[in-house]
Amino acid sequence: MKQSPIGVFDSGLGGLTAVREIQQIMPQEDIVYFGDTGRVPYGSKSREAISKYALQDARFLKKMGVKILVAACGTVSSVAPDLSEELGLPYTGVVNPTCFTAARVTRNGKIGVIGTAATINSHSYKRRITAKHPEFEVFEQHCQLFVSFVENGLVDPDDELVQLMVRRYMAPFKESGVDTMILGCTHFPLLADAIRQEMGDGVTLIDSGKETAIYTQKILREAGLLRDDDHKGESNYYVSDTPADFEKYAALFLNNSPHNHVEHINIEE
Ligand code: SIN
Repeated sequence: MKQSPIGVFDSGLGGLTAVREIQQIMPQEDIVYFGDTGRVPYGSKSREAISKYALQDARFLKKMGVKILVAACGTVSSVAPDLSEELGLPYTGVVNPTCFTAARVTRNGKIGVIGTAATINSHSYKRRITAKHPEFEVFEQHCQLFVSFVENGLVDPDDELVQLMVRRYMAPFKESGVDTMILGCTHFPLLADAIRQEMGDGVTLIDSGKETAIYTQKILREAGLLRDDDHKGESNYYVSDTPADFEKYAALFLNNSPHNHVEHINIEE
């Protein structure tokens, strides 16, 4: 089981921000990634549709023999039920690890959360933080447009269109004086430079992909499933739309690390 790959899925390319971190902190691990590029975005879909898609995605990864399921998708983590019981595998989403870090680093107890419409309407991050820290104030704003920008490679902080969009969405947070901002969708770390430029260095950005990778390592270690040999991990990628778009934009997410194999699959089968 230790030699089995880590299974990561997302609605599209955003989950690659978690893959990038997993590759960095656990280079000995193999990864199987599924990006549902044919059905992205999830964040504007109903709870029923998101739950159905999440289950199909996770079942595909289980068939690939993964040892842990990582829902590297803010929307799935917020809306779909916990998949660990259904699939009999260790499981993590992005909400818990991200909230834990945000609560630890805030200095003034004012935390901003941005995510998709489905994520923000679920109040998943806010409920998680205030359950433990009722004294904290959590400010939420959906930024559904961010997902389309990122999926189309529009992330340059010097691009006027990017700046305009980020300014519009960040305005309420500037007024509320948050000192910590949860990037509650794994697509959003790609816009971190633009967000930082708008919010200033006094606001700490919490990258849900990174926090989830660290948490995945902890779960594997505690379960005795972390590889400890000197294997050079390989990553294999599967998508539900043409691999061409994946090839085009994946380098943005993966810091140009080589991706070994990209294949189209029919996720509805
Ligand atoms: C989306 O598909 O709308 C974005 C995925 C996410 O919430 O991470």
